[in-house]
Amino acid sequence: MKIGVIGSGDVAKTLASGFLKHGHQVKVGSRSPGKLADWAAQNPSASLGSFADAAAFGELLVLAVSGKVAAEALSLASAANLAGKPIIDACNPIDDGPPVNGVLPFFTDFKESLMEKLQRAFPAAHFVKAFNSVGAALMVNPQFAGVKPTMFICGNIDAAKNAVAGILDQFGWETADMGSAEAARAIEPLCMLWCIPGLARNEWNHAFKLLTN
Ligand SMILES: NC(=O)c1ccc[n+]([C@@H]2O[C@H](COP(=O)([O-])OP(=O)(O)OC[C@H]3O[C@@H](n4cnc5c(N)ncnc54)[C@H](OP(=O)(O)O)[C@@H]3O)[C@@H](O)[C@H]2O)c1
Repeated sequence: MKIGVIGSGDVAKTLASGFLKHGHQVKVGSRSPGKLADWAAQNPSASLGSFADAAAFGELLVLAVSGKVAAEALSLASAANLAGKPIIDACNPIDDGPPVNGVLPFFTDFKESLMEKLQRAFPAAHFVKAFNSVGAALMVNPQFAGVKPTMFICGNIDAAKNAVAGILDQFGWETADMGSAEAARAIEPLCMLWCIPGLARNEWNHAFKLLTN
């Protein structure tokens, strides 16, 4: 597939490299694409551009920017370039300020998630929450002694979720579809839970697993 990545941080670069590893075509977008020069030198088959270039290029998009500016980044990407496309939303609504005993502050509450706000602002885009509840270093084919970790996803469009589930399968994850966009109210705070062992005890090497009978 053609993948457009909106973002230039660790998540954007890690997922972009993962897509390349699995044979996809990738364009990574930034307001300053020059900052990706080192990454591009190590990933010569990828192309770089603006947020709008990446969004126009991709059949499937990844949004990996600071949660506070996610709507701004999508505006720069242009609503027309997002329409009808699955968008993996890896963003978390992390607020300014220090963690409290390892618990990150969020600027959202349990009545509306960041992804719902984005879905309302860009109604023609097909957002799928995914990859927000694990650290970048473990996003692509993590190894847990033969056990597949679970990625919790949600979104309003089944076809978009199916596309993302296919990507998750390639990236070594089992998918747990939690339903519509409202489920992001529960999935986004998994980021807080995932970060607690890291922030409190510098332990970052874990992922969630859903057990069923
Ligand atoms: N780091 C992790 O391990 C991890 C894991 C799971 C989820 N997440 C979430 O994934 C997202 C990305 O995290 P990250 O650590 O890779 O990167 P980040 O440092 O949170 O975000 C970097 C991106 O934000 C963009 N940005 C900053 N200010 C902007 C503005 N005013 N307007 C538009 N774009 C702006 C930057 O754009 P430019 O390229 O133009 O500078 C850059 O692409 C975050 O929401 C984070 O909570 C992170």
